[in-house]
Amino acid sequence: MLDRGFGLPEWHTPPAVAAELRRTRPPRRERGLVVFFTGLSGSGKSTIARGVHETLVESGDRTVSLFDGDVVRQLLSSGLGFSQTDRSTNVRRIGYVAAEVGRHGGIALACPIAPYVADRDVAKALADAAGADFVLVHVATPLEVCEARDRKGLYAKARAGKIKEFTGISDPYEEPTNPELTIDTSKISVDQGVDKVMEYLTDGGWLE
Ligand code: PPS
Repeated sequence: MLDRGFGLPEWHTPPAVAAELRRTRPPRRERGLVVFFTGLSGSGKSTIARGVHETLVESGDRTVSLFDGDVVRQLLSSGLGFSQTDRSTNVRRIGYVAAEVGRHGGIALACPIAPYVADRDVAKALADAAGADFVLVHVATPLEVCEARDRKGLYAKARAGKIKEFTGISDPYEEPTNPELTIDTSKISVDQGVDKVMEYLTDGGWLE
């Protein structure tokens, strides 16, 4: 149930409706699902999420929506920056739309950095209240590896002080303590990461 402390409107899913949704849940292969990837910039979370998206679209078994970081920040969250408040707003918006996809039986894939536990918890609570399942995937590639890759050149800029509040350098990342899955792309390839997620969803009964 959503808590007042999350600052979310109670009417999003009234508690009685949420209880009814949970009671009358369809089997997992028909149930809404939010797969929420979290990790540092350059950890590989978007690449893995895109791979999972492609695989699901090809299989055609389930309706799937991908909430990619760049697209979200251009459209859903345009105008937001990287302060704690803006990040929270961004992640909670993603959690909300992902839960709405889940409410209607779809699979939502989201891959923001989502550095704060509280915001990830809100995303989970929103999915739960919408009658959808929630799988947290921590893409736990170490900071040194993400920084060495520096695909966008942002770590160098952050070290030089040209970008403020950069996650892992000058801004926090609160590690998940109990993710459903942990993937470290310094140990396995992106393709193996995609396989790991697909296997988890299949073994868990969300996919045929
Ligand atoms: S958050 O914290 O969840 O709201 O962040 P997110 O929406 O996923 O955006 C992360 C991408 O924005 C770029 N970028 C930054 N990241 C972290 N800190 C700061 N200050 C920052 N400024 C810009 C960065 O390219 C992230 O992209 P990814 O895909 O994660 O590498």
